Amino acid sequence: MHPVEIKKNIYWVGAIDWAIRDFHGYSTYQGTTYNAFLVMGEKITLFDAVKRDFSDELLKSIAEIVDPSKIDYLVVNHAEMDHSGALPAVMEAVKPEKLYCSAACRKALIDHFHEEGWPYEVVKTGQEVGIGGRTVQFLETRMLHWPDSMFSYLKEDRLLISSDAFGHHWATSERFDDQVNETQLFHHCAKYYANILLLYSGLVQKLLAQVKELALPIDMIAPDHGIIWRTSPGRILEAYDRWSQQKSIAKALVIYDTMWKSTEAMAKAVADGIAVEGASVKLLGLKENHRSEIMTELLDAKAVVCGSPTLNNGMLPAMQDMLSYMKGLKPSGKIGALFGSYGWSGEAVAEMREYMDKMGIAVIEPMVKVRYVPRESDLKECYELGRKTGQALKSPVAAG
Ligand code: FEO
Repeated sequence: MHPVEIKKNIYWVGAIDWAIRDFHGYSTYQGTTYNAFLVMGEKITLFDAVKRDFSDELLKSIAEIVDPSKIDYLVVNHAEMDHSGALPAVMEAVKPEKLYCSAACRKALIDHFHEEGWPYEVVKTGQEVGIGGRTVQFLETRMLHWPDSMFSYLKEDRLLISSDAFGHHWATSERFDDQVNETQLFHHCAKYYANILLLYSGLVQKLLAQVKELALPIDMIAPDHGIIWRTSPGRILEAYDRWSQQKSIAKALVIYDTMWKSTEAMAKAVADGIAVEGASVKLLGLKENHRSEIMTELLDAKAVVCGSPTLNNGMLPAMQDMLSYMKGLKPSGKIGALFGSYGWSGEAVAEMREYMDKMGIAVIEPMVKVRYVPRESDLKECYELGRKTGQALKSPVAAG
């Protein structure tokens, strides 16, 4: 793609990855972008780079504006390979005077590229540097989402280059929020939050408070993935505030896997019981729904109800995968319920319970187990479990 001027003399020079479908376990079914920004002034500065496979594309895009060898400074806000992979090629082409990054980023870059001699210039929160007529203020954002992560704020342009934060995985030819469908945009942002930042929600709250305290005038937020926020960028800050508070609604997910459709029949009965109580419910089979889409649904759901038959003395592998992934993302303030069919040993439900306990999810009793194929009376029990879950969702305690 050609460069796009996002503010006067500031260009998007990133790459669009239309083909990527998996991002370490996250389904990027609509691709992603790796955003990099070229700031032209008395000094020329490149903010961030792209994935290694797109090195040539980045350099070609820069060359449409300026000979890459004329770039004076690099700013590396984050060391992860989707933004730093092209650095060896960039360093070779640019030979910058300085490479600005956080102390943790310097260490991470050395551990990635084994280059001690790059012209690192370590910066800290609050530090300002001049880049030829412009001032950059740095804000370290440790563990959002790596120890090295950092924001760069261009004061004169009121532009926040926010690294991974406020971004999303969505390949588009459009660059700005007012050029795309808002519902789709916020879906991708919610998915990104739920799958990458949820476990750091406490830190997100602190960061938002810090940004508020700094009272930085922000006209534009340019993340390193996806669409740039130029129309009321406060909207994405407000969404992060909401998501990081992990506020939930009277909504349940019934997540299940099945062998011979017994657990599926139980799942449907549980879902019917939840719905009859007036709560929102989503029935999510693990054969049809990707773990990262389920996490997106979990962002505002109060209840997580799981069902698995027993196989080889445990739950089905897809449920193990789902619960292990969910546990790592540390959802909080949820309630749960469990069910599953079995033949002779029936350990799946107890095994799922262990995950629920580790996640601090209060499990509604009874957990329902059915031998082989459910009878009408078993399905009634599942329906009643659903009703109990639906009632709990409506109670003030559960809805908090
Ligand atoms: Fe987009 Fe943490 O890298």
